[in-house]
Amino acid sequence: MTIISNYISYTTNKLRQIRRKLGAKLIDVPLQLNDITLMGGSFFDDPKELVLNLIHKSAARIETDDQDYPNFFNTNVGTLELLTKLIEEFRPSVVVETGVANGRSTRQILSAFKQFELQNSRLISMDIDSNVVKADLRENEQFEFRLIDSPIKFKIEMANIFYCNIFYHDSDHSYSSQMMEYETAWEILDPENGILISDDVNWSNAFRDFCKKVNRSPFLLADCGKFSGVISKPVWR
Ligand SMILES: C[S@@+](CC[C@H](N)C(=O)[O-])C[C@H]1O[C@@H](n2cnc3c(N)ncnc32)[C@H](O)[C@@H]1O
Repeated sequence: MTIISNYISYTTNKLRQIRRKLGAKLIDVPLQLNDITLMGGSFFDDPKELVLNLIHKSAARIETDDQDYPNFFNTNVGTLELLTKLIEEFRPSVVVETGVANGRSTRQILSAFKQFELQNSRLISMDIDSNVVKADLRENEQFEFRLIDSPIKFKIEMANIFYCNIFYHDSDHSYSSQMMEYETAWEILDPENGILISDDVNWSNAFRDFCKKVNRSPFLLADCGKFSGVISKPVWR
């Protein structure tokens, strides 16, 4: 197992302990402070300087954005980079994602299509809220949206899609919902090149249990306090 850590040093130390236990390989990826907090704002290493700035700049307001969902809904930077790298490597013709919200992962996938000149690739995004589809997405010919308001609807949509190369879960992270999505996606994943990625695998035991069920050892990315998991449908030697 390879564990990629780009979280704070406490977590890295924890991962080192896990590595020692499991004999796993650990890769440290340096992080920018902004990547960790995703908050913006001003950073100081001198408390006195911070207080001076606080007093003199206290009238400054955080720039408002027009996001519908809170920042913590957004896919973190490490997982966005992972999605990009996977698209570059596997050049998928069909990517399916669940959970759009502010559209961070959605736009990243679409821009990766552009970056790697995948003009014929399609992204099919699903959500329980149709307001997530903003004008730029609606106008993108490589983007399709499916409104899903029940597990049955999700299964029907997936059966209609019939085939995908990359599936990305980032919707409801309850055990039953994660498990249901993994099981359904696995059915239509490309047997030769299919990749299943899940954000927030630490929210429930579903990813762990699913990996056991399909007999795959997961690759885990530590990403700003949470973990994303990746497994491939084919078993590569
Ligand atoms: C964590 S956010 C997605 C963030 C997005 N991937 C990004 O990077 O910006 C979760 C989204 O899942 C949607 N959602 C919640 N339950 C869902 C379900 N059962 N099926 C599909 N989408 C769901 C919510 O409406 C919300 O838009």
